[in-house]
Amino acid sequence: MSEIIKIKDIHKFYKNGKDSLEALKGVSFSLKQGEILAIMGSSGSGKSTLLHIIGAMDVADEGEIYLNGKLEEKYGVEPNATKIRSENIGFIFQAFNLIQDFTVEENVSLPLILAKEKSKEIRKRTKDILEWVGLAEKGRNPVTDLSGGQQQRVAIARALIN
Ligand SMILES: Nc1ncnc2c1ncn2[C@@H]1O[C@H](COP(=O)(O)OP(=O)(O)O)[C@@H](O)[C@H]1O
Ligand SMILES: [Mg+2]
Repeated sequence: MSEIIKIKDIHKFYKNGKDSLEALKGVSFSLKQGEILAIMGSSGSGKSTLLHIIGAMDVADEGEIYLNGKLEEKYGVEPNATKIRSENIGFIFQAFNLIQDFTVEENVSLPLILAKEKSKEIRKRTKDILEWVGLAEKGRNPVTDLSGGQQQRVAIARALIN
């Protein structure tokens, strides 16, 4: 199976005046298609920092990131980062980060709207994924009507629709 993502010797420093905190001290791993990896560690050990870098929402200070075997020199750097996020990354946040003024369907279909999919295709895939997460009946509801667990399922559907 091919390598979906590989990171090599990732370092991240947070600077505060002349203080510098090394949040990531040379992290490396790779993932093949279909593999699942759980990253575990105590609070403050750098899990969120690592995920934000892999999610192209922050930039590493050192190290390399390969996507589908190709070295991405500008992984977390705009405008490339937006492209990587929309085409390759689904991110589920601890605090759901749903758009409060949108319905369930609107939140879930957003990645496809941004990817300029055809509206017929958007409707079909939104319907399918909402069925898959058990929220077929809630599509027209504002997300604020949903329970915490249901909102997290909307976030999962949004992360996986593309
Ligand atoms: N924006 C930031 N500025 C300065 N220090 C930060 C910032 N974000 C995280 N840190 C520090 O980096 C370390 C790793 O944090 P984080 O990645 O959030 O850990 P985890 O998610 O494993 O709890 C912690 O010591 C934290 O205080
Ligand atoms: Mg964290």
